[in-house]
Amino acid sequence: MYTSLLRPLLFLFPPETVHHMVVKMLHAGFMIPGIKGLVKKTCRVQDPLLETELFGIRFPNRVGLAAGFDKQANIYNHLAAFGFGHIEIGTVNPLPQPGNPKPRLFRLKKDKALINRMGFNNPGVDVFVKNLKKYKPEVIIGGNIGKNTLTPNENAIEDYLICYNTLYDWVDYFVINVSCPNIEGLGKLQDKDELIKIITRINEASQQKAIRKPVLLKIAPDLTPGQLDDTINVVETTGIDGIIATNTTTTRDHLATEKGEVEQIGRGGLSGKPLKDKSTQTIKYIVDKSKGRIPVIGVGGIMTPEDAIEKLEAGASLVQIYTGFIYQGPSLVKRLNKTILKYLQ
Ligand SMILES: Cc1cc2nc3c(=O)[nH]c(=O)nc-3n(C[C@H](O)[C@H](O)[C@H](O)COP(=O)(O)O)c2cc1C
Repeated sequence: MYTSLLRPLLFLFPPETVHHMVVKMLHAGFMIPGIKGLVKKTCRVQDPLLETELFGIRFPNRVGLAAGFDKQANIYNHLAAFGFGHIEIGTVNPLPQPGNPKPRLFRLKKDKALINRMGFNNPGVDVFVKNLKKYKPEVIIGGNIGKNTLTPNENAIEDYLICYNTLYDWVDYFVINVSCPNIEGLGKLQDKDELIKIITRINEASQQKAIRKPVLLKIAPDLTPGQLDDTINVVETTGIDGIIATNTTTTRDHLATEKGEVEQIGRGGLSGKPLKDKSTQTIKYIVDKSKGRIPVIGVGGIMTPEDAIEKLEAGASLVQIYTGFIYQGPSLVKRLNKTILKYLQ
């Protein structure tokens, strides 16, 4: 029904407009008594075999929603009803910021892909906390944190620390996002020395807390093998809990969309089907090189249940989706969970 009826209708509008429409529809729809229960009943797949424990957290299943969808931290409970085992909110920064000028989100329909240069549009970490207090999470929440665009890289650590400390009581795990291609210079924070500085300060902050919350690093799919080796080394020496692989790619290889159209869209991160193999290769590289010691959440181009299994076979412990959710609709979550269940059986 989604791909044959709703998607053609939604795709008549610009992608960012559709996002806001969907958020409004979710808020309105879930106000109707009984709707949430019905959605949960229809979409959720529950089975002890799907459950898994990773870095001290018990996940009800292996499928999560990737960062960037709930950028305001106000629809995670609605989204959870569709059967996600975890939702990553953010990326959030210390201060509110509008992001890049519009248009900044584009569909590449022929490729089942998106290009975005949103630029961390978010209401700031204080609003996140306000929302998390207001809507008590009914799902595992990851807090994806970043620096404000105007914060120079030499002060980035302070931004990550503000987000970490402010969100600490309200999320289950953290993600240090240094891989968004749409923030000038952010990728430089993926350099070994920069990463060590940020993670060391986060580790110090974590020692002040009564309980330790897992911290993961989200990386780009465009790192060279040398950079990946450095990243593995940093994760192992600093003792953080895992890696999310991957963010969007800046490459534009093997696209079915006409070159002129792609060039006209301009810069931004490419997600969806064309990212799938790059992301899987990154996961496999990390898992092989670290001999499975580093837990990996696999994300990038999961459009079908088979794509999710490919990520698990590459060594991912959990998977996340974003672009697949847009192209395939909410039923994808159930299909992924059902196929993963069969795979585990
Ligand atoms: C519109 C859009 C916004 C995104 N915003 C963020 C973000 O704020 N932080 C982040 O870590 N990743 C962000 N991402 C990247 C996704 O979380 C994910 O890593 C990437 O899209 C690859 O997965 P996919 O192919 O399933 O979409 C965004 C992706 C899209 C399409």
